[in-house]
Amino acid sequence: MRTPRLPGVYTLVALEEVDSTNAEARRLAQKGEAETPDGTLVWAKRQAAGRGRRGRTWESPEGNLYCSLVLRPECPVARAAELGFVAALAVYDTIASLAEPGTNANVKWPNDVLIHDRKVAGILLETESGVGDVPEWLILGIGVNVLHFPEGTPYPATSLKAEGMADVDVVAVLETFSRHFVSWATRWLEDGFEPIRAAWVWRVKGIGQPIEVRLESEALKGIFKELDAQGALILDQNGKTRRVTAGDVFFPAPAKGNA
Ligand code: BTN
Repeated sequence: MRTPRLPGVYTLVALEEVDSTNAEARRLAQKGEAETPDGTLVWAKRQAAGRGRRGRTWESPEGNLYCSLVLRPECPVARAAELGFVAALAVYDTIASLAEPGTNANVKWPNDVLIHDRKVAGILLETESGVGDVPEWLILGIGVNVLHFPEGTPYPATSLKAEGMADVDVVAVLETFSRHFVSWATRWLEDGFEPIRAAWVWRVKGIGQPIEVRLESEALKGIFKELDAQGALILDQNGKTRRVTAGDVFFPAPAKGNA
């Protein structure tokens, strides 16, 4: 596999195998800014203990993309979640630029990317509190199913290969993602969350439609009304709005007709 060519803002740490690139990025980030600057990107070919959101396992055989980006943004910790949307846009645009025209891709709240309504990528965002309100560091872990995808997941999964992108390899995905991330992160730095929010809403599945949001101990049903200015999902439940900050979105199966 050739060495990825990334824009100069990144410092690449390339590994054959690691427990989790997020865990390794955290270990490196803890060494401080001089040793692990903003833009350090940990990439591994395999993970032995890949982690998903909400304590789930992320299956990590060789052939998919596993990387974690260490960022040290000068923003309040409350704004950190915005960077998950920045990363989701970069993954979406990566897929859009590598896919055949007509490939139906979407983002799904909060930070998943779908192709033909199957999950192809997920993002795990972790922060460490710093002095005052500004995080010491933030880690964006990105997993993209390039060659393989797991069976039997709560939300059906797919891979780029299964969706017709048989010639795409991990290095091409990483290089393309790294360029799109720079461009969306620059937009975020210069213009704030609103253009990110608007671009994400333009690409999202299910806005204005019935959804189910599964929380830790309950499932909420309602209409997906909007994404608010902090990245929370606004659910309309018979005219009453509910603001949701964590959960998994599912879409009801379309009703079967008589024909
Ligand atoms: C999700 O549950 O959707 C988030 C999945 C995030 C997986 C990536 S793979 C690279 C990084 N390292 C991990 O252990 N997890 C993230």
